[in-house]
Amino acid sequence: MKTLLVIQCTPRNENSNTMPLAEHFITSLQSSGPSWNIDKLNLWDESFPEMNGEILTAKYAFFEGQPLNDEQAHGWSQVRQHLERFSRADAVVVVMPIWNLNVPYVLKHYIDVITQPGLCFSWSQETGYQSLLQNKTALVLSSSGQGFHPGSGNENDDFGLNYIERWLVTFMNCHVQKIASAPTEADESRVLTAKRQAYDQASLLAKNFK
Ligand SMILES: Cc1cc2nc3c(=O)[nH]c(=O)nc-3n(C[C@H](O)[C@H](O)[C@H](O)COP(=O)(O)O)c2cc1C
Repeated sequence: MKTLLVIQCTPRNENSNTMPLAEHFITSLQSSGPSWNIDKLNLWDESFPEMNGEILTAKYAFFEGQPLNDEQAHGWSQVRQHLERFSRADAVVVVMPIWNLNVPYVLKHYIDVITQPGLCFSWSQETGYQSLLQNKTALVLSSSGQGFHPGSGNENDDFGLNYIERWLVTFMNCHVQKIASAPTEADESRVLTAKRQAYDQASLLAKNFK
């Protein structure tokens, strides 16, 4: 059975605008074909290592093939475990509100933990960034007070959706699709239309999701 890693970046649980869209996608997916194993990763319930001086020393030591002390080895094994959980998944869904024109800080922390040279990607002047992971599908389900889609007039303020797509493609070797339920802060009929469109897109995408 294939595994879908669902990365929850909102802390709002039952009050969330984005999580019900994710639940709708998962329900549609499960009724569209073979069952998926759902691995739910709520970033707000996890403890990630602080990327402090100690762990960065471990990062550089690992990269240079130097031995790690006990504390560094412990921190580094946590990094590896979090990356392995991402790697193991056959596909990924990132459930993400926009915060201050960007991704919520828990997601940036997660990204900074798992995106490690030598484990996740390589870089050279000749080749640039190359992911070391197997290719997989990623779906970004987002919501935001205003829309950032082409034609919204807010395209130049999109530091969140563009960023998450770039990270997933470049470092995590993902084929990325995005569905935004936005705006959530506008007159009622605009909000409802945008929400309905997002749910319809999610139903459609679930039919052929691999
Ligand atoms: C801390 C914070 C910052 C936000 N910043 C923005 C923003 O910059 N642009 C925007 O359009 N909406 C912003 N919003 C609104 C949320 O993106 C929007 O309400 C979203 O639907 C929340 O999703 P959720 O209910 O799943 O958490 C912000 C909300 C919060 C809590």
